[in-house]
Amino acid sequence: MALFQKETAQAEPDFSNLPQHIAIIMDGNGRWAKQRGLPRTAGHAAGAENFRKVATYAKEIGLQYLTVYAFSTENWKRPQEEVNAIMRLLKKYLLEAIDQMERDRVKMHFFGDLTPLTPELRKLCDRTQEISTHYDGCQVNICLNYGGRDELVRAMKAWYADCQSGLRDPEALTEQVVSDYLFSKGVPDPDLIIRPSGELRTSNFLLWQSAYSEYYFTDVLWPDFSTAELDKAIAAFQKRSRRFGGV
Ligand code: IPE
Ligand code: IPE
Ligand code: MG
Repeated sequence: MALFQKETAQAEPDFSNLPQHIAIIMDGNGRWAKQRGLPRTAGHAAGAENFRKVATYAKEIGLQYLTVYAFSTENWKRPQEEVNAIMRLLKKYLLEAIDQMERDRVKMHFFGDLTPLTPELRKLCDRTQEISTHYDGCQVNICLNYGGRDELVRAMKAWYADCQSGLRDPEALTEQVVSDYLFSKGVPDPDLIIRPSGELRTSNFLLWQSAYSEYYFTDVLWPDFSTAELDKAIAAFQKRSRRFGGV
């Protein structure tokens, strides 16, 4: 018996009933480049370009929240040259995003500890976040040096410090309080988490927030994950039955 049944979703989603929050693990850049005999960095460039397209589309269809996994706490293990190339692409993306912000009105946030980034990059991240604070378009959360476990450890430390200083009562700890200490404070949990590239794992992404998220896996590599692929994922999501433990 097959473990997973292939979803035979229609490609056309119901745009009047979109999930509120979609999260994407942007994986497969390296393999995309390898298939073409190109260096991995070319795959990251293609991935960044695709992110631009998908984010624009998300805004156009009226999605409220898009969260993307761009660089994990574990990705520092990669060769220095590859890490540098990813950071350069990020800088390029942010400079262009700042340029187009008035037009796009996309609200940008960063999930993750930005302190290991260069001061220049940190400043760009702060600036994009600041400029877009009052925009009401789609909120795009970029997970950068993000790890779900790291996020929980940070939350525990911050909560403990607040308990020590009397701001919090340890007896009053609830799930909502935990959520309020995460990078995603105030953002609803993702309804749908998409992982392209064929890997069937979360790789430390949104561990707390994904408790009841629907997953969508596809073999398509991230640079090839077109807006039509996003439509397919949304259509598949719309056929699921979410029970949240009920009947
Ligand atoms: C995702 O693509 C980008 C980052 C993790 C930064 P990969 O670089 O992991 O691509 P594959 O998985 O090696 O194909
Ligand atoms: C997850 O992809 C992180 C990002 C896409 C940013 P990885 O390529 O790092 O994950 P693993 O190593 O295959 O689990
Ligand atoms: Mg990968």
